[in-house]
Amino acid sequence: MTSPFPQLDANGRLRHLITLDGLDPGLMRELLERAKDYLCPPGRLPPRGDDLRGWTVANLFAEPSTRTRASFELAALRLGADAVNLDVMLSSRAKGESIIDTIYTLEAMQVDVFVIRDAQPGIIEFVARHVGDHVSVISGGEAHLSHPTQGLLDALTIQQHKGGFSDLTVTFVGDIRHSRVARSAHRALTALGVAELRLVAPEEMMPEPHEFQGARRHSSFDDGIAGADVVMMLRIQRERIAEAMPTDIDRYHELYGLTAARLARAKPQAIVMHPGPMNRGVEITSEVADGPQSVIRRQVANGVAIRMAVLAHVAEARRRRAP
Ligand code: CP
Repeated sequence: MTSPFPQLDANGRLRHLITLDGLDPGLMRELLERAKDYLCPPGRLPPRGDDLRGWTVANLFAEPSTRTRASFELAALRLGADAVNLDVMLSSRAKGESIIDTIYTLEAMQVDVFVIRDAQPGIIEFVARHVGDHVSVISGGEAHLSHPTQGLLDALTIQQHKGGFSDLTVTFVGDIRHSRVARSAHRALTALGVAELRLVAPEEMMPEPHEFQGARRHSSFDDGIAGADVVMMLRIQRERIAEAMPTDIDRYHELYGLTAARLARAKPQAIVMHPGPMNRGVEITSEVADGPQSVIRRQVANGVAIRMAVLAHVAEARRRRAP
């Protein structure tokens, strides 16, 4: 059996970020605080830094992405790095090159950080085990398992709107079984001390019983949303569902779609979250997605700040290791 992969260096700082599992809550809070330094009001010039001057960040995405890929690129550029975006399907991987040969090729071009999204479990850790000592690997989303920067940006968004975690009831709704977003958000919110976590999903979209420990499970959306402070809606992950999809989308929307009427069962100041991309009219109506309780675009803005915080932390950690 291989030993758990160490994400931290000898100083307890992040060398890689592959999962939030096991990550110290103090380190999570530090990243949330650091991200706040990179936030700015809409329409204002975003803060720029030079923490990554002279560095190169390579985005290797083997699954589609809008938010994560664009925000990692912006984060790298705003910290003074060069950025390379490789669409894996259009790279030499499509001609049979292995992932590790792709990594070695880019390492030869002096890449310092690889941001990787892949549908294959374990591939990001595999890469991290093979890169040079000075190189860092950050997950941009691994299969259904993990999306650590999404978990952090979700926590930051909740903290901004609710001031903390300890009094909150947070409800996840939809295809939780196939959601890496839900797994990382669960990990972050549990570590940060959220009071109550609820899962609402049809049977086939509920995670395995041993997962999401401590969360209460509801088949009824009306029960699961009652009195909630935060409602996090999740898309049906069609790309990960081998078995039959729910064919009656109207029925799914009726049972598990967030409408204004259903949202009225949550607390009056409840916030509505969605990691995107949304399927409007399926898991959420436009009235709610674009309504006053929605913080969905704030999540996107926070994504850039969180990714800047993670990259800056990793760069600082490397400087400490080799001043
Ligand atoms: N939330 C998220 O991961 O979105 P993208 O797939 O667009 O990156």
